[in-house]
Amino acid sequence: MIEIVNLKKSFRDKKVLQGVSLEIATGETMTIIGRSGCGKSVLLKHIVGLLMPDEGYVRVDGKIISQLSKSELYKLRLRFGFLFQGAALFDSMTVGENVGIALRENTNLSEKEIRKIVAEKLEMVGLPHIEHLKPSELSGGMRKRVGLARALATNPEYIFYDEPTTGLDPIMSDSIDTLIQTLAKTLRVTSVVVTHDMQSVYKVADRVAMMHDGKIYFLGTPDELAKTKDPVIRNFVDRNSYHDVEIEDELERLNKKQASDR
Ligand SMILES: Nc1ncnc2c1ncn2[C@@H]1O[C@H](COP(=O)(O)OP(=O)(O)OP(=O)(O)O)[C@@H](O)[C@H]1O
Ligand SMILES: [Mg+2]
Repeated sequence: MIEIVNLKKSFRDKKVLQGVSLEIATGETMTIIGRSGCGKSVLLKHIVGLLMPDEGYVRVDGKIISQLSKSELYKLRLRFGFLFQGAALFDSMTVGENVGIALRENTNLSEKEIRKIVAEKLEMVGLPHIEHLKPSELSGGMRKRVGLARALATNPEYIFYDEPTTGLDPIMSDSIDTLIQTLAKTLRVTSVVVTHDMQSVYKVADRVAMMHDGKIYFLGTPDELAKTKDPVIRNFVDRNSYHDVEIEDELERLNKKQASDR
């Protein structure tokens, strides 16, 4: 279980997190939405201990992240899988080396065992036998899958996805969402998915948290999100769905104008 309590973080005088509180239950898939720059990635980085809070804390399975020693944090991180925004693969390494990196650096497994696990994880994300390729040879969707295979290498109990479908076409996005769903079900992991993509939210989320003004503005199920009439939420949600409200608003305005001109 992840407990985020009154988390505050500023960069210089820019207040990003202004008291974020959120509980993520073991086994659930929580999606986090909100406008670009609202602090979603910053929040994720606090959960995994890549950033430390100014105030408040994150507790994972009873342990407060910011109070752990370096070695305790490394140990805990082996239970986390992190798919970074943009996949963040090392271009100088092969796919196989990328996927096996955490195992090579943090475990005493033999090269043979590592190769076996790497093959297994690539198979799991639907990309078997591509160990020898370089990331630069892959499409965006394939890179995300390789990033996911790397996140899965240590058999994590928690998987954090930062914008897993951004930049992908709808079909590729949907197949990544299916993969997120499958992993949640078959591995029984706790998943935290940061996304702009409302299709993803409706497909994978048990619950949705929307960040706004440095806080959690909405927390509920996707159904509850779809039904809410709150203008801040509607503005975000509808703009990210198929309807382009900006155009609709503009059309409505023009129609009204025409009517009043007559
Ligand atoms: N290490 C840092 N140093 C200084 N400012 C930072 C740092 N990391 C993030 N910020 C700032 O914090 C704010 C929130 O950034 P964050 O990356 O969390 O946004 P986001 O919600 O993930 O946006 P996006 O949807 O575009 O990925 C931004 O204004 C960003 O410039
Ligand atoms: Mg981000």
